[in-house]
Amino acid sequence: MKNLNLLKTLAIFGFIVIFGCHKDNSDPFSSRKISFNSDWGFHLNDSIIDKDTIGTNTKWRTLNVPHDWTVEGKFDEKSPAGYGGGALTGGLGWYKKTFKVADEDSTKVTSIIFDGVYKNSEVWVNGHYLGKRPNGYISFQYEISPYLNYGDKNNEIIVKVDNSKQPNSRWYSGSGIFRNVWLETTDKLHVGQWGTYVTTPKVTTEKATVKFETTIQNQNSTSKKATVTTTIFKKNTKVTSVTQNISIGAKANQTVKQEAQVETPILWSVEAPELYTAVTEISVDDKIVDQYKTNFGIRSFKFDVDKGFILNGKQVKIKGVCMHHDLGPLGSAINTRAIERQLQIMKDMGVNGIRTSHNPPAPELLDLCDKMGFIVMDEAFDMWKKAKTKYDYSLDWDQWHAKDLQDQILRDRNHPSIFMWSIGNEIPEQWSDEGVVIAKELSGIVKKLDATRLVTAAMNPAVNMNIDEVTLQFEKSKTGFNKLATSGALDIIGYNYAHQTFEYHQKNFPNVPFIATETTSALETRGYYDAVSDVVKKWPVRWDLKFTDGNLGNTVSAYDQVQAPWGSTHEATWKVMKKHDFLAGMYIWTGFDYIGEPTPYEWPSISSYFGIVDLAGFPKDVYYMYQSEWTNKTVLHLFPHWNWAAGQNVDVWAYYNNADEVELFLNGKSVGVRSKKGDDLHVMWRIPFQAGTLKAISRKNGKTVLETEIKTAGTATNLKLFADRPTIKADGNDLSFVTVDITDANGVLSPNANNEIQFSLKGNGKIVGVCSGDPVSHESYKGDRHTALNGKCLVVIQAGEKVEKLELTASASGLKSSTTIITVK
Ligand code: GAL
Repeated sequence: MKNLNLLKTLAIFGFIVIFGCHKDNSDPFSSRKISFNSDWGFHLNDSIIDKDTIGTNTKWRTLNVPHDWTVEGKFDEKSPAGYGGGALTGGLGWYKKTFKVADEDSTKVTSIIFDGVYKNSEVWVNGHYLGKRPNGYISFQYEISPYLNYGDKNNEIIVKVDNSKQPNSRWYSGSGIFRNVWLETTDKLHVGQWGTYVTTPKVTTEKATVKFETTIQNQNSTSKKATVTTTIFKKNTKVTSVTQNISIGAKANQTVKQEAQVETPILWSVEAPELYTAVTEISVDDKIVDQYKTNFGIRSFKFDVDKGFILNGKQVKIKGVCMHHDLGPLGSAINTRAIERQLQIMKDMGVNGIRTSHNPPAPELLDLCDKMGFIVMDEAFDMWKKAKTKYDYSLDWDQWHAKDLQDQILRDRNHPSIFMWSIGNEIPEQWSDEGVVIAKELSGIVKKLDATRLVTAAMNPAVNMNIDEVTLQFEKSKTGFNKLATSGALDIIGYNYAHQTFEYHQKNFPNVPFIATETTSALETRGYYDAVSDVVKKWPVRWDLKFTDGNLGNTVSAYDQVQAPWGSTHEATWKVMKKHDFLAGMYIWTGFDYIGEPTPYEWPSISSYFGIVDLAGFPKDVYYMYQSEWTNKTVLHLFPHWNWAAGQNVDVWAYYNNADEVELFLNGKSVGVRSKKGDDLHVMWRIPFQAGTLKAISRKNGKTVLETEIKTAGTATNLKLFADRPTIKADGNDLSFVTVDITDANGVLSPNANNEIQFSLKGNGKIVGVCSGDPVSHESYKGDRHTALNGKCLVVIQAGEKVEKLELTASASGLKSSTTIITVK
């Protein structure tokens, strides 16, 4: 009944009367906010420096945001963004949108909300300057009601985005209105921006106390008497509600504190991320004037110096990954399905934690982490006052850091998936007294707005040392601590790398819990192998030095054998991490490859090698090492491929679990049984190559658990298409990620095939990305053709708004083409 009333009230609100905008019909409580993404004009021109010079002659390209213009450009060795920026270009971009607002909204408050614009955005509405926001990752909003025309007259919004000064980032940033834009319309008496704060100070399985602090804003010129009711829903069922009468002055804000009890709460956990919804209603004279929805979770947690991370009374090891915000071939333009896919791939590997390195993420990422069950470290900054690149955020630090950090906490603090705030990554000031002062200030800002979570920083490392002599220094003395680590500003000591030092943590910091904020930085190219895995090439010795042995090329073997000098192999760090309870967990650098920051920092490399999954979303082999350790799934993964020169010695590795041993057969003949010994995480056979079939059988107590085979591929003849989802929504946004395999006549993957594949699509959908995951490819991610890497390629199809069947065809010279149908409905 109550729900019905809510829906009726929303219908009366009349938010649907803004033209040129899409209402999100999926959620009756979110109707205060409508999507403002469609039909923007875009103009890229470095020479225009003043918004008044944008005349009627300017050519505008029509597009929908989120939009990233940088990913549309060409890779260029001389790009001022450098290889760090993916050798792509920034520039100065303009966006324009025309819209009408209905007369009845003239008594309301209308605001425009940007989830993120990279960077230095400036916004005008009907010629009125609304403001500037240098930080490219922060969400912000402007009230525009005073400047709007109502009724038939048009309104025009102009956004200037200045990403022309390069370099300003160590990784690929993208440029433009790269996150969602919303138009929000409310009564003059309403819940303020990010106006709710929901906490659960007491949680048991019998009962939870839920506290609400709600900021009510009265923009009327008279005082108001109102009722504030907060109702808790589980799915669509009302759980409980609390009501309070208030009297609020003209043009005033007031914080309303309420408390509710939830009997037998269903707790949020990583395995069962149960959410509740709080709906705040403000009523005047029994009429609801505003509704505001907040998702939250009920859970208890602590970081313990001995037991690590405890969630709802149970110890949970954080098995996390760091992620940058780009979405591979889609660039940095956010798409909820693309983020969801990344998270699903991570979840299937056993990942339970995400670090938003090194900036506030898109709100959709946090919503998904809430729903899917990830332990999030929400990070604010990659630098403070001291620059890491010439034109980075350090230039805006003095003026903006307090506001940016405050806004991040206010926006994000209701997400149950967030457990830690990180105030910075590898901050140059971490060794100095100045760093201590800044850390205390930042920690103070966080604590004032959210005392329920812990503050950390990603330090490199917690103790001053030469990474090659790391252990010795710990044994000898306690001098040389990182000043930030000992400042008292951090609730958890965050280690970047230095896994050799983890075991000394309790000795050095007996009273402060541990988290490995960043680990590993191992390097792999998917599907590429040096035949013998213990020949560790001196590659790359250091990213700032030349190769020592000349001619290795920028392709890295996918045996877990190559690492950045400050990092480790995947196995090395996990072996330490799994040994001790006090090590709360780790965030591996990185879950996915990302554009920019290749290591070596050298042309022709333009994207990273650190990912456990490549840029296209194809897992590298080590993915299955984690899966065998981090999930309950039964795993038997065999590699490399089986196409080598006759007689050549090849190392065959297997990752497995839930079994005592693995036996390997080459063309039906056993080549030996292997078992993991001690802390081994894989088994290996070194055998001379002979074409045919390699078969592995894992056994427990003599019984077969799993079997897997790899066959020698013949000549490549076919293309095979696999859509991750053959049916997608007709909402103009949804995506189908289609994998292309190049195979021989028997369907065996051709592991060395690198044919150029041409795509064509019939219907109203679009090809929005193509990618092979190759860090040295300079082909555009935005074309309709792409060269495969080691037998695989990806094409991303976006639905139109029409119900239809899309027909996708892939073809390549010398190969049989292949077609697949994607249903849009
Ligand atoms: C870390 C840094 C990351 C990334 C990584 C590459 O030191 O925090 O942002 O640069 O190195 O190994």
